[in-house]
Amino acid sequence: MTNLVLKSCIICIEGRELLVDLVLLDMHDFDVILGMDWLASYHASVHCFEKEVVFRPPGELEFLFKASYLPFMPRVISCIQANCLLRKGCQGFLASVVDLQSGELEIGDIPIVREFSDVFPDDLFGLPPRGAIAAAKELINEAIAEKLDIKNFSSSNTFRVTDLGCSIGPNTFLAVQNIIDAVELKYQSQGHSTPEFQVFFNDHALNDFNTLFSSLPPERKYYAAGVPCSFHSPLFPNASIHFVFTSYAVQSLSQVPNEVLDKSSPAWNKGRIHYSNASPKVFESYAAQYAKNIDCFLNARAQEVVCGGLMAIIVPCRPNGPPYPQDTITETMESCLSDMAKKGIISEEKVDTLNLPIYFASPHEVEAAVERNGCFRLEKMEILPQEKPSGNFSRGMVLSSLIRAGMEGMFKNHFGEEIIDEFFDSFHKKLDELSKFESGNGGSLFILLKRIATS
Ligand SMILES: C[S@@+](CC[C@H](N)C(=O)[O-])C[C@H]1O[C@@H](n2cnc3c(N)ncnc32)[C@H](O)[C@@H]1O
Repeated sequence: MTNLVLKSCIICIEGRELLVDLVLLDMHDFDVILGMDWLASYHASVHCFEKEVVFRPPGELEFLFKASYLPFMPRVISCIQANCLLRKGCQGFLASVVDLQSGELEIGDIPIVREFSDVFPDDLFGLPPRGAIAAAKELINEAIAEKLDIKNFSSSNTFRVTDLGCSIGPNTFLAVQNIIDAVELKYQSQGHSTPEFQVFFNDHALNDFNTLFSSLPPERKYYAAGVPCSFHSPLFPNASIHFVFTSYAVQSLSQVPNEVLDKSSPAWNKGRIHYSNASPKVFESYAAQYAKNIDCFLNARAQEVVCGGLMAIIVPCRPNGPPYPQDTITETMESCLSDMAKKGIISEEKVDTLNLPIYFASPHEVEAAVERNGCFRLEKMEILPQEKPSGNFSRGMVLSSLIRAGMEGMFKNHFGEEIIDEFFDSFHKKLDELSKFESGNGGSLFILLKRIATS
């Protein structure tokens, strides 16, 4: 059913322009159906045997449309016919045909879409930028080539990879494929046959695993399984995982520290939503919560990763340095919420009770956590190059969209759905007004850990 009609559209047949009212239908197999009424309005005659239509528009010269340039009709049969033939004992073959000659479809190849290239940025908003994964790709290839001890586990024919905090794709699929390609190369270069790959996609149980699994790459060369559970707890049997990957997930805390929500505590974070610019007690509570979480994370992985196996972590970080760091982004969020509270759009109490469960650790804190754990060697730690916004979007727009994707649910639960658009709109505008966040007060950290033998 539709009530959409596009009046007086022009279609061109044999160089003649004809008007038609097009009724919009939810239909995929035909571009346009020109019905009997329309043919009649142009006094058309259809000659079936000759495969031609003669148009005699009143008061104009007649013209002929002949389907002579259809080279042949493809020999296609319906599904029902195929079923019927198979039932009668005919032989059937199932073939999946891929055109290897045709390159990947670019925006510039798609009619209409190519005229709006500025509204199709390279990175889709709502997900951590692919660019950061691309930057980490080389580091991961290098890590696998140089640091993965396959002699420890090449006797097993299964190589197990996990992506912790995988979300719904597509970044996880790119990352996993890259790891598998690099491992395959390593096995081949050392004269081993390629192992079978098993990939475990992990995220919270509320993650949309249906979307993730329904978009698994069809050409994948691995067995895929979901592990819906917090990565702060054990997820796999002892010494079963060969490569752990996690990107933009380990900054999430399992909870907001209790003290910052407690009115009677010196760490009560009134009027603020994070530790930035808050009292030192607030920061100390967050730092202690992070230390607990990262210890649980590393202890669980120490049990699960085989000796000689690797863990690659990409995580937003803050620089080493001042003990009570400032974070322009969370301060900007706070300022938007405070403006909305002043206007009476949200209550002050609601602002007081919101605290973001994220912590940006410094490289020194990561080193200290690895040392406390004692089962991993820190092979590499490197700041990844900062992303430049793509398309015509400002950095404020890109950042606010990324943050919205990760935090919208939490803001909705806390303040209600009706304020969300207004909040993120003012957030992106304020970010654009700031010049200081252009230089960034943090970045993304690439960390490579190797599971070592312990006595
Ligand atoms: C910002 S997204 C990153 C997604 C993906 N790794 C990427 O780089 O595109 C963070 C993901 O980590 C997940 N996450 C956060 N804390 C987690 C935890 N404790 N256990 C499992 N997943 C977690 C979130 O649910 C979310 O899907």
